[in-house]
Amino acid sequence: MTIVKYSLDEFIHDMDALVDEKADHEKIFDVGSGHLERLINNPEAIPDEFRYPADGSNHGSYLMHYGDNGLLVTTVVWGPGDHLGPHDHRTWGMIGVMDNSIHETRFKRHDDRSRDDYAELEKDRLNIVKPGDVSLLVPEVDEIHQMDNPGFIGPNANICSSRLIWGSRTGFSLTGTGLPKW
Ligand SMILES: [Fe+2]
Repeated sequence: MTIVKYSLDEFIHDMDALVDEKADHEKIFDVGSGHLERLINNPEAIPDEFRYPADGSNHGSYLMHYGDNGLLVTTVVWGPGDHLGPHDHRTWGMIGVMDNSIHETRFKRHDDRSRDDYAELEKDRLNIVKPGDVSLLVPEVDEIHQMDNPGFIGPNANICSSRLIWGSRTGFSLTGTGLPKW
């Protein structure tokens, strides 16, 4: 019996359909997370060259797809000790972990979000996202997170899918001072 594995092209096709039909967040998470789970459970879906940090770096961020409808698919690699402080993507997002676990800390925001350069953050919880798991970024509800690889060595691919809004991501310091958008 031949087992047909779910490919990156199929994932992009299926996510495109959700974005093009203007599915709401609930449907994107409900249906799209199933697509992403199938993708990250196929170790052949992402070539090895995108599962390790870039040369001379402890980090990798590889663009796999960016479509006219805004659908963005990236492979992000966190090398041992790699860290990115609290930030807010301001759009829906799904992170599927393919290789080693990633430590994702979530924060609650207590101010009224009226300023980009200020935020009152409180650490909420640590999620240890394991291979095969999908973590959801829910706009304005549960989307501010920090990423850490506490020391896992080896391939470390996170497949991230979202609808990109350029310039919308904001980083924060833990003292509540906003950092430049990027
Ligand atoms: Fe992020």
